[in-house]
Amino acid sequence: MELIRFENLSLRYGNRVLFKDLNFSIYEGDYFCIAGENGSGKTTLMNAILGMKEPAEGKITKSNDIKTGIGYLPQQKSLQKNFPASVYEVVISGFQKKRGFRPFYNNKEKEIADKNMKRLGILDIKKQSFGELSGGQQQRVLISRALCATDKIILLDEPVTGLDKETTEEMYKIINELNDAGVTIVMISHDASATIRYASRVLHLGNKVFVGTNEDYKKYIRGDK
Ligand SMILES: Nc1ncnc2c1ncn2[C@@H]1O[C@H](COP(=O)(O)OP(=O)(O)OP(=O)(O)O)[C@@H](O)[C@H]1O
Ligand SMILES: [Mg+2]
Repeated sequence: MELIRFENLSLRYGNRVLFKDLNFSIYEGDYFCIAGENGSGKTTLMNAILGMKEPAEGKITKSNDIKTGIGYLPQQKSLQKNFPASVYEVVISGFQKKRGFRPFYNNKEKEIADKNMKRLGILDIKKQSFGELSGGQQQRVLISRALCATDKIILLDEPVTGLDKETTEEMYKIINELNDAGVTIVMISHDASATIRYASRVLHLGNKVFVGTNEDYKKYIRGDK
């Protein structure tokens, strides 16, 4: 099933065109990787999916299933890392949009937050301060948070930045398990080997734009086509 369709999409900041005329779709169950050099517009594309950046031209259509919310793990800036809140508070803030003006989170939301912390193996540290955790633990917290918006699809903007090799592998394993369990993954990555290992389909932004299957991407970066 098609979850997000991009038609003739162009994104721009002022006069600067990041890319134009993109046509592709993201399907249920995809492990969709977005590659491309710094400044090519990967994060901006995610912002457009989330409705935080207006297309200059073309449109993005989301299936009804995901209109109520999309889970998002933002690209990490070191400042956010010291966020003064507990693990639980960070995770449950994933419901903020759904909660609206209700003063408290309801029991169902608390249950789902617990379930997501359990899923990421962080339930036992739920009372700890987010700012005191390791980088890998923080990413688990942020993925648990993203899953509160929906467990249909999550957007991950460079989820392994700053992690050591072992923790990076752990993160990839967790993301892969979520995908196996039916969560559609959209991941921005600078790590070409991980993209080739995990992606079902790839979008590569830059002077030349590629979008296609993993198989075709391998040929593309080898220069076969
Ligand atoms: N709010 C903004 N106002 C103006 N220009 C912006 C804004 N945000 C991003 N840009 C510019 O748009 C371009 C694309 O930025 P974006 O953050 O999408 O790139 P990226 O592919 O995610 O790069 P990176 O790999 O470094 O994260 C950059 O040249 C950036 O300077
Ligand atoms: Mg970025």
